Amino acid sequence: MSKHIVIVGCSGFVGHHLTEALLQHTHWLITGFDLEVGKISHLLQHPRLQFHSGDAYCHPELDKAIEQAHVVISLAALCNPSLYNTEPLRVIESNYFGPARLVEKCAKLKKWLIQFSTSEVYGKTILSQWPKASFTQPPIAQIPEQSWLLNEDTTPLIMGPVQQQRWSYASAKQLLERTVLAYHLEQDLRYTLIRPFNFLGLGMDFLPGIEGEGLPRVLANFTANLLCGKPLSLVDGGKSKRTFLCVKEATDAVINIIQNPETCQNQIFNLGNPKNEVTIETFAGLIKKAFAQVSGDDEWNAHPVQSVSSAIFYGPGYEDSDRRLPDISKAMLRFGFNPARNLDSILSEVAQYNLSLYPSSPNKSLCPSPLAIP
Ligand code: UGA
Repeated sequence: MSKHIVIVGCSGFVGHHLTEALLQHTHWLITGFDLEVGKISHLLQHPRLQFHSGDAYCHPELDKAIEQAHVVISLAALCNPSLYNTEPLRVIESNYFGPARLVEKCAKLKKWLIQFSTSEVYGKTILSQWPKASFTQPPIAQIPEQSWLLNEDTTPLIMGPVQQQRWSYASAKQLLERTVLAYHLEQDLRYTLIRPFNFLGLGMDFLPGIEGEGLPRVLANFTANLLCGKPLSLVDGGKSKRTFLCVKEATDAVINIIQNPETCQNQIFNLGNPKNEVTIETFAGLIKKAFAQVSGDDEWNAHPVQSVSSAIFYGPGYEDSDRRLPDISKAMLRFGFNPARNLDSILSEVAQYNLSLYPSSPNKSLCPSPLAIP
């Protein structure tokens, strides 16, 4: 049976991949909302896509679309760390007040809501706080890997102090999650919460100095640094760890969730790939290697990196999540999630795409003007 899916935030990085995947792999009808056409301009003529531009939360077509919907997917958000401590009001509005109005509408109209949250709700790991605790810390190497796993239903969420605006985003998302669960408890809202762990793929953010100005997430920064002949900036030495998931595997997972309401409704899911865990320093080496392999030019491997303090890079008061290792056993069990794409193959696709779009060679500046990257 054909389903009707509403996507709020269909033109951003995850939104456009999801819209594409839904049109390609299903026969469902999509109504998408976003501030602008953004990354879905090539899909606008598709007969199963209806697109509305503008602020979704007060759009005159929103209620009608939700009334007809089988499921509402909410993923519009400002999710760029450089904004968390510089524009916290906009961050909180876009990650809490706007989406919370949609949660209320879905509860009122009795619709299944798939709400994108973030892996950042876990904040910092408990183990990273041990040096500050009064009990004796075992050597880090002796801590079993199992203890680092972040579980949707048991792991506590550890934010920094309120004065550290970096946590404005994670706190807004955490309150949004709690609002969703409150509507479930009191008004029977059917929900699925998704916590993304660093999705990677084409079309992520924008390349600063080439496609816009500002400070996007790490993949776009490093790609622009390489193309523009600027050193890759490792924030505080690049010691933080992340796991990376191919965005296409993430969008396939969302389709599987929609197809399995009995096992996936009223659940929180981590979506990540624990096998793709690296420090950001290692990540920098891997993206250089991908550029070298794709172009056949080993000189990319010698591209400079530099350590930059987080206070200079993001501004005072920045704190980081030290490690984010997802426990994906629930997703594996409930909808067969089994991510397989390794980091080398994802980065190779990214390098291939960008080098064909913006031909460049090692240490030659492609950028017409100096980058806004510190
Ligand atoms: C961001 C969002 O805050 C999360 O909500 C989201 O889930 C996540 O991206 C994601 O892509 O899924 P974060 O992982 O901190 O979280 O985002 P990045 O900006 O990509 O930073 C990753 C790490 O690289 C951080 O340790 C950061 O300090 C570092 N970094 C970033 C660099 O060393 N150099 C850079 O040029 C950029």
